[in-house]
Amino acid sequence: MSVSTGGLIVEEKGPITVLTLNRPERMNALDFPTLLYLQAAVAKLAGDEETRAVIITGAGERAFSAGADLKERETMTPEQVRLYIRTIRDIFSAIASLPQPVIAAVNGLALGGGTELCLACDIRIAAENAEFGLTETSLGIIPGAGGTQRLPRIIGRARAKEMILTARRITAAQAEAWGLVSRVVPGERLLAEAMAVAEQIAQNAPLAVRQAKYAIDAGSEVDLYTGLGIETRAYDVLIPTEDRREGLAAFREKRKPVYRGR
Ligand code: COA
Repeated sequence: MSVSTGGLIVEEKGPITVLTLNRPERMNALDFPTLLYLQAAVAKLAGDEETRAVIITGAGERAFSAGADLKERETMTPEQVRLYIRTIRDIFSAIASLPQPVIAAVNGLALGGGTELCLACDIRIAAENAEFGLTETSLGIIPGAGGTQRLPRIIGRARAKEMILTARRITAAQAEAWGLVSRVVPGERLLAEAMAVAEQIAQNAPLAVRQAKYAIDAGSEVDLYTGLGIETRAYDVLIPTEDRREGLAAFREKRKPVYRGR
């Protein structure tokens, strides 16, 4: 099924949902209506037991997203800017805490909120022409959708400071060297690569995938002792599941497991 709401295309491809930012004439910049479409799509995914992985990408070949819509921004009152920032931050946090893994397929420029959207995803795969940048300090603001917090957690404080304080763009190759993306592929193979990763995830036991994502994310924010406790609790959730038994039976019977998310 495919639903287009102007700024966002939502496609359900079996167990994988693809969200495509769709304002190529504005470099897929995130205006308020597009944010609200994204918010609705993410809220639906949060309760969707059928979707096992999500891909986020941008329409066209130039941009994943040029971030906040600066033309719209110019028309906003300070109060509206505050509301926009709160909304985008909350949506990206909702993406980060989706139960399903989210893959950013970065098809071009990802600037400001575009890079921050990538940071909220679990896995980032970039096309060779992709570039990343938190340009906000060059515009008299700072990253406000998680960038100052998520970037140092992913690439370390020093590199994050270099990117944020210089507002400089980095290439896909540099992003790969810094661990910001897992891999760089030719543009024409980007979606196929992202789909292949999503399909591999979709074959695994969905409850296990959810618990693993939760344990990694929750555990990364606490000391090791507490993190190991989180891992123990996450494992405990899986012990009574039918899928755990199915995994063992499939191994014994030398067949592929059929997981039902129970
Ligand atoms: N908001 C609104 N419109 C944007 C946009 C943004 N963030 N980024 C690009 N666009 C628009 C341009 O205004 C232009 O439309 P126009 O021809 O009607 O004016 C169109 O997208 C193409 O962009 P253009 O600037 O002509 O292409 P370029 O290749 O010369 O530069 C960028 C592309 C993305 C590098 C440049 O547009 C840019 O720096 N944009 C701002 C990105 C940014 O800093 N985002 C963070 C915001 S916090």
